[in-house]
Amino acid sequence: MRVRHLSTWFIFTFGALGGLLFGFDTGIISGASSLIEHNFSLNIEQTGFITSSVLIGSSIGALSIGSLSDKFGRKRLLLFASILFLIGSGLSMTASGFVSMVIARIILGFAVGSASALTPAYLAELADAPHRGSLGTMFQLMVTAGILLAYVSNLGFLGHNLLGIRDWRWMLGSALIPALCLFFGSLVLPESPRYLVEIGKVDEAKEVLHDLRAKTDQDPDKELADIQAVANQPKGGIKELFTFARPAVGVAIGLMLLQQLVGINSVIYFLPQVFIKGFGFPDGDAIWVSVGIGIVNFVFTVVAYKIMDKFNRKTILLFGSIVMTISIFILSFLNFTMSVKAAAVPTMILIAIYIIGFAVSWGPICWLMLGEIFPLNVRGIGNSIGSAANWIGNFIVSQFFLVLLTFFHNNVGGPFLVFGFFAIVSIFFVIYAVPETRGKTLEEIEMEMRHKEAAKEAKKAAK
Ligand code: GLC
Repeated sequence: MRVRHLSTWFIFTFGALGGLLFGFDTGIISGASSLIEHNFSLNIEQTGFITSSVLIGSSIGALSIGSLSDKFGRKRLLLFASILFLIGSGLSMTASGFVSMVIARIILGFAVGSASALTPAYLAELADAPHRGSLGTMFQLMVTAGILLAYVSNLGFLGHNLLGIRDWRWMLGSALIPALCLFFGSLVLPESPRYLVEIGKVDEAKEVLHDLRAKTDQDPDKELADIQAVANQPKGGIKELFTFARPAVGVAIGLMLLQQLVGINSVIYFLPQVFIKGFGFPDGDAIWVSVGIGIVNFVFTVVAYKIMDKFNRKTILLFGSIVMTISIFILSFLNFTMSVKAAAVPTMILIAIYIIGFAVSWGPICWLMLGEIFPLNVRGIGNSIGSAANWIGNFIVSQFFLVLLTFFHNNVGGPFLVFGFFAIVSIFFVIYAVPETRGKTLEEIEMEMRHKEAAKEAKKAAK
């Protein structure tokens, strides 16, 4: 189907659907895990493993998909990921015990990791430079919508064994709907014009670009010429990642690790437990706290979508780092100095401010920049490395958060001190390491990096 028949809205919404499944599949387990534990008579380690098996699968999925996407194309692999989403969701809904559930969750994780490595590059490669910020933010918008949907589905199905099928099976099975949408969407979505040029299908790339830019004031022929210029650069494959693309690798890994180490998923995955264990909330109230946080997270990602092309990426990141740092340290201070009862409400407010800081900045921008900073001929594999770093960071935080919380006698101020340290590191990282990418085409970003590295090499050689 010609892209001209699809609206930009359709292309970017369906193209970003992998994000919704990412958010849903990682968020849903917080409500479902205790039900599964009960149903299958699992011990606490087994339940923990069901939660973390997705993260293991995602790290593997993220790492393996990139080089394949440089070879087989972004669209084909999105289709492949959607099939894995369907299989994983179906299997987890029908799992009969611990082992089958872990297998299902690892397959799901593989799909989630693949989507996280494929989607940012795919969106960045389709978007025009002036709108790439907001169009790229669609991915994170979908992630936050997925998390919110997961919380709502937890609330909606809890205690209702419809048609004689247990509530947690409905919770996990509801992921089949977005997975089906992604499947049908990927059948009609266009292939990335940049990938098409890379494999020599210039005429097809030209057609896609003309259709995509039809309603913008961007010149598709100039864009095509620029893409051809970078595609003609000598190919270095993986070697290139460790030579002139090295700065991009460093920035991607730094951004992705820090995005996790500031502790966002301690809130997204474990907030009900914090309020139950730390502040003595009843279970029902604690779930509402997370729905509230899910809403704040989503709404402020919409704000990010609106502002992304109006301010520099670095300015927004810095703003987010400062808001997170301040809210984290006040939160820790209050929790170490006030009584548990008095600290509950201020903690809730400070967590909301922390989420706002994250949602407008580090949440969307890290994924956005991942799609922007790698040169075309190593973009797939570069995205793999960055997104694997994100999943590894996620795994570390998820594994150690509850341990830290117990170590500090359920005082949430303790683990947050550790996150506060990384929030400070993130300020310096933005100032000294992150390049500005707003308003430039992907090809300009690449050429700038090539020139800088060439100048550095020349200086070294002259010494
Ligand atoms: C980002 C993070 C993800 C987190 C989400 C919360 O997408 O990568 O781990 O759950 O933000 O909004």
